[in-house]
Amino acid sequence: MSQATNQSWGGRFSEPTDAFVARFTASVNFDQRLAPQDIQGSIAHATMLARVGVLTDDERDAIINGLNEIQGEIERGEFNWSVPLEDVHMNIEARLTEKIGITGKKLHTGRSRNDQVATDIRLFMRDEIDVIEVELKRLREGMIELADREAETIMPGFTHLQTAQPVTFGHHILAWQEMLARDHERLLDCRKRVNVMPLGAAALAGTTYPIDRHVTAELLGFDRPTENSLDAVSDRDFAIEFTSFASILLMHLSRMSEELVLWTSAQFNFIDLPDRFCTGSSIMPQKKNPDVPELVRGKTGRVYGHLMSLLTLMKSQPLAYNKDNQEDKEPLFDAVDTVRDCLKAFADMVPAIEPKKASMYEAARRGFSTATDLADYLVRKGVAFRDAHEIVGQSVAYGLKSEKDLSEMSLEELQQFSATIEQDVFEVLTLEGSVAARNHIGGTAPNQVRAAAQRAREALSALKAGA
Ligand code: ARG
Repeated sequence: MSQATNQSWGGRFSEPTDAFVARFTASVNFDQRLAPQDIQGSIAHATMLARVGVLTDDERDAIINGLNEIQGEIERGEFNWSVPLEDVHMNIEARLTEKIGITGKKLHTGRSRNDQVATDIRLFMRDEIDVIEVELKRLREGMIELADREAETIMPGFTHLQTAQPVTFGHHILAWQEMLARDHERLLDCRKRVNVMPLGAAALAGTTYPIDRHVTAELLGFDRPTENSLDAVSDRDFAIEFTSFASILLMHLSRMSEELVLWTSAQFNFIDLPDRFCTGSSIMPQKKNPDVPELVRGKTGRVYGHLMSLLTLMKSQPLAYNKDNQEDKEPLFDAVDTVRDCLKAFADMVPAIEPKKASMYEAARRGFSTATDLADYLVRKGVAFRDAHEIVGQSVAYGLKSEKDLSEMSLEELQQFSATIEQDVFEVLTLEGSVAARNHIGGTAPNQVRAAAQRAREALSALKAGA
């Protein structure tokens, strides 16, 4: 294929396309990834055209057989992609005509590349969303099981990254799981708007052939045909929605990554990540680096970038199709690949997190994390909260000087700050007592964490059944 004027639209042209322009405007190097969806869409289109009498059954069969053979050629790596043929659509159509002759040229009846490409991307997105959803479910399941196992494991909870109050490790992991549950909803919601069929919009205004768009939509598993032909070939908001889902998800994974990186450090020493998720250093023999979470944190930036690319790509386009839209594919493909890989990495890694319970416990014990519990104890004994706050503040100052946690002080030491304090104070100053006391829905008490894990399990399987 060396002819520089494209045969599918060269009729009105008096000179060949400039060689550079042909390369500059071609998309085949990246949109060949849409070949399976392009073929799927063409088979449905030909089937519909035969059903309404625009093609004969023999023509339909020749087209479908030809397309299936081409699919095989592509899968076996035998297909000869041609840049002068511009894009995936014209490459496949040209090959079809080469194989079955003039009937191949009838496939494009009542269709344009504008509705064809919009359909291909939506089919592609739907396929990828389904793959991504499997990984997301797997990750959520892993988190729920880890949280259930660690419902009683105590760690310090932080605000401002300073020790605040003791929490359970299971509670912390379920916080992550909640973030992902909302991302999951966003993904499924996005899928509804992806799964609408543009085919039949043709170039922009629809077509004069007696097409039946409901038939094509049903053959392709779309929920319905699009309502407006101009909008159908033009808007890529569904791709923007996906990358916005992806950006929020990666923001969440990045936050989790940051915590994993901190936790594996010698300074925190809260968890161990198995060696298979880490790498070493070529110069420092002692190093074991948490590369997987670091890389997920790093990849967040490129996904945000793709969201900005797509928003900007769309913002000034008049109706209907413009060539600008060819630029939607690379950001979208990369966003899809990045999300899928990051979710897979996390889904593999999370169940393998090994909490270092003694070290977490010790960190919670050292940070005066039961100070609020002491204040609440005083309030229960009739002290006003502001006064209680002051009393506990003085006890902490004493603890800092004498290097003692509140639970390590004797009753006499504590009574220096308030005579209201009695022997029963030690029940609330323990870490176990502190977490167990936060015993309401959404609280960190071990029995609440187990109940929350059970509800999360049920919500996830209800989602599966409904999907
Ligand atoms: N390669 C094009 C794209 O990705 C296909 C549609 C081209 N349509 C056109 N009228 N030039 O958007």
